[in-house]
Amino acid sequence: MSEQPSPTQSRQTQIYLEGIGGRMPIVPVDVNALEARAREKLSPASFAYFAGGAGLERTMDANRRAFDRWQIVPRMLRDVSTRDPSIELFGQRLPAPLLLAPVGVLELAHAEADVAVASAAAACGLPMIFSNQASKPMECAATVMGDSPRWFQLYWSRSDELVASFLSRAEACGCTALVVTLDTTLLGWRPRDLDAANLPFLRGKGIAQYTSDPVFQRLTRETLAQPAPPGPKPSLAAIGALLDMARAHPGSTLNNLCSGRARAAVQTFVSIFSRPSIAWEHLPFLRAHTRLPILLKGIQHSDDARRAADAGMDSIIVSNHGGRQVDGAIGALDALPAVVSAVPKSMPVLFDSGIRTGADAFKALALGARAVCLGRPVAYGLAAGGRAGVESVLRNFMTDFEITMGLSGCRNVAEIHREMLLPAS
Ligand code: GLV
Repeated sequence: MSEQPSPTQSRQTQIYLEGIGGRMPIVPVDVNALEARAREKLSPASFAYFAGGAGLERTMDANRRAFDRWQIVPRMLRDVSTRDPSIELFGQRLPAPLLLAPVGVLELAHAEADVAVASAAAACGLPMIFSNQASKPMECAATVMGDSPRWFQLYWSRSDELVASFLSRAEACGCTALVVTLDTTLLGWRPRDLDAANLPFLRGKGIAQYTSDPVFQRLTRETLAQPAPPGPKPSLAAIGALLDMARAHPGSTLNNLCSGRARAAVQTFVSIFSRPSIAWEHLPFLRAHTRLPILLKGIQHSDDARRAADAGMDSIIVSNHGGRQVDGAIGALDALPAVVSAVPKSMPVLFDSGIRTGADAFKALALGARAVCLGRPVAYGLAAGGRAGVESVLRNFMTDFEITMGLSGCRNVAEIHREMLLPAS
């Protein structure tokens, strides 16, 4: 009896067959070539924003090196004709142990930004974690996702009222989990952005969750009612920046410019964005303001992991923000085993930072992660091919993972164990 080809075999076959007819993949499959394609498409400053990290970018290197320290030992003759890469997470079945990490300011990559990414994620049935620094309001991204899963990522701002408003909007637009990023109470020192003197938020980009929010709109009106602080010396560049702000702001550009609203919104954002005082004792506030599962993102130490579990948090995402925050830190994968050991078995631990291939996901799962999040490659797919580019990146990743899993002798993710890895010599 002939066996049906699996969906992954069909995707692989489809790519090769299309090549016979002269059609090449719409975005490169190889992640380094994908990054190079995105670099070609973007302005140097926009590419720098996505690609860059803190300091000498040693943490970004450490993230990749941490994967190289583990090697997979494939097992044979295990009948992998049927493979199931799906997992269950917070009561939802996902087609793969994969989520889309929150990535801010996607308008730098493509005009459709978060909406294009949301649509591609939904086509694959993968959860998108809406960024707090999105270019489109969460409601717009949710609209194109139907019943497909989405989560919301929060930066805890100085205004608790705004935080509460973000949480209630997230629930209302169908988000099923809350991810609180803990590692960005201050923005990291990022030489690529500093040398371009470019922070997109100051041009009104990546602040759509704020400008669409009723609490933030009220705060902006309060800012407008104050005497305006001295602006930059009039120059062509300063006028350009004002125009950028006015264009990025909802409503008519001319109105936004003349009313001073766009500039007041940026000023308001700057005054409340970061809250370095945030501490463990603030967590009950979140519990009191949402019924969603809460995940703490950015945990890298076993003591912090234990404390998160003791504080009644639902999950942890081991992450160093893709190396964008602290230079010279440990690779995120190096932090994973100790965090997994520190928390109860019932607490799912997710992983991000440095994930590029199916083999990376396999290694993270073998070390105890329940699922992984993909960040920069999604932004690069968006830059290189818009919505279709993102879908291609996601489908390639899922296929790569399933093939790696099968070729390693596993029929499902439960069969991926620590014993399938050896430290590289
Ligand atoms: C903020 O989210 C950043 O990493 O740039």
